[in-house]
Amino acid sequence: DGAISALRGRLLWFVDDPHAIGEAAHRYVEDGLLVIEGGLIKAAGEASELLPTLPAGAPITDHRPHLIMPGFIDAHIHMPQTQVVASYGAQLMEWLNKYTFVEEQKLAQQGHAEKLSAFLLDELLASGTTTAAVYCSVHKQSADAFFAESHRRNTRMIAGKVMMDRNAPPALTDTAESGYADSKELIARWHGKGRQLYAITPRFVVTSTPEQMAASQRLVAEHPDCFVQTHINENRAEIAFARELYPDAADYAGIYEDYGLLGKKSLLGHCIHMTKREWRAFAEAGAVAVFCPTSNLFLGSGLFDWQRARHESVKVAVATDIGGGTSYSMLRTMAEAYKILQLQGQSLSAFDALHAITLGNAAALGLDHLIGSFEPGREADVVVLDPAATRAMAHRLETVRDLAEELFVLVTLGDERNVVSTYVAGERLSHCSTN
Ligand code: GUN
Ligand code: FE
Repeated sequence: DGAISALRGRLLWFVDDPHAIGEAAHRYVEDGLLVIEGGLIKAAGEASELLPTLPAGAPITDHRPHLIMPGFIDAHIHMPQTQVVASYGAQLMEWLNKYTFVEEQKLAQQGHAEKLSAFLLDELLASGTTTAAVYCSVHKQSADAFFAESHRRNTRMIAGKVMMDRNAPPALTDTAESGYADSKELIARWHGKGRQLYAITPRFVVTSTPEQMAASQRLVAEHPDCFVQTHINENRAEIAFARELYPDAADYAGIYEDYGLLGKKSLLGHCIHMTKREWRAFAEAGAVAVFCPTSNLFLGSGLFDWQRARHESVKVAVATDIGGGTSYSMLRTMAEAYKILQLQGQSLSAFDALHAITLGNAAALGLDHLIGSFEPGREADVVVLDPAATRAMAHRLETVRDLAEELFVLVTLGDERNVVSTYVAGERLSHCSTN
């Protein structure tokens, strides 16, 4: 409804720095007030200045001394893989065949996609993640189940039915035509319904024939406002297989380019083993490289070169990639991102990490006019964090000297245990904490 309410606490969010184009600056208000009206941010600033502007009787939730931030965004996650997490001893191609494709077949069973969708949304919200780009299974009804559950909760989610018509078990394949028709039906039903957005989802070139790639191209041409999500350059064996299947393409990125799938709304998971030409192609297309730290470490895929992406002016988003990834927490994800960059002589400040999982991901997805900050008019998706939630963190915080140090401890040691509350479009969730 349109009633006004407010949250009081330590506000932290990011804005594009008007003095340095492309740079972000943080806004921090020690005793801040976040004013919400009709599920949208009305104002964010000093409590002393905003309290007198509230109508009499407006409810104020006092979260002091906790941090209040925009809800986190996860740019790549697999709904059917919540029971694949922590599968032992394999790299990508073997991991897909031995574990992932086995679990994904279970989504044909009545009620299973509903169960996994509810679980995933519970877990994301408990981790402070309020928006995610989600792969469902090949089954049309898996995307219906996920969207229905997200719509019921009023979360802003991006999702799509996976398309794959080869190199997967017969029970998990569609066809170029059925994948096209099912995706079309899902787009008509869900794209733009409430807060739901559709992503056209050819899994990766290994599991799509040229006919299916062409069908994906038709979907994109007919629905240019939908996202595209897929995988690229994750693993050496995968790349060799991809090149073998599409010998005429310039390189892996060239395959997607040839089918019109490399554009501004394209989210390409991994981007680890990239050639100079591929970086350029991404930059020219405005395509998004999606960095999946815990997955890249767990599957032994390699080290994402963020500095190179920045140097090549390629947009970067960050993501968990559950179930190749090992944590639902974007805080934990950024702690692992830091270590991956350290191995390459790079660094990542706490401000950069927290920017990445809020405004940075929102901007990479082209959704920064809707989510990712506390600018007036943005949707009021909010996470409330207790940086001292664990004994070890409280102990460590005794010696921090400033905000940057405190936040670096939060990013390095934090996870879902630090999430006190999550708000979706201004509504506080009662069941979100795992504590
Ligand atoms: N490449 C194609 N499918 C997948 C998947 O499910 N997970 C990961 N990590 N890589 C993929
Ligand atoms: Fe993935």
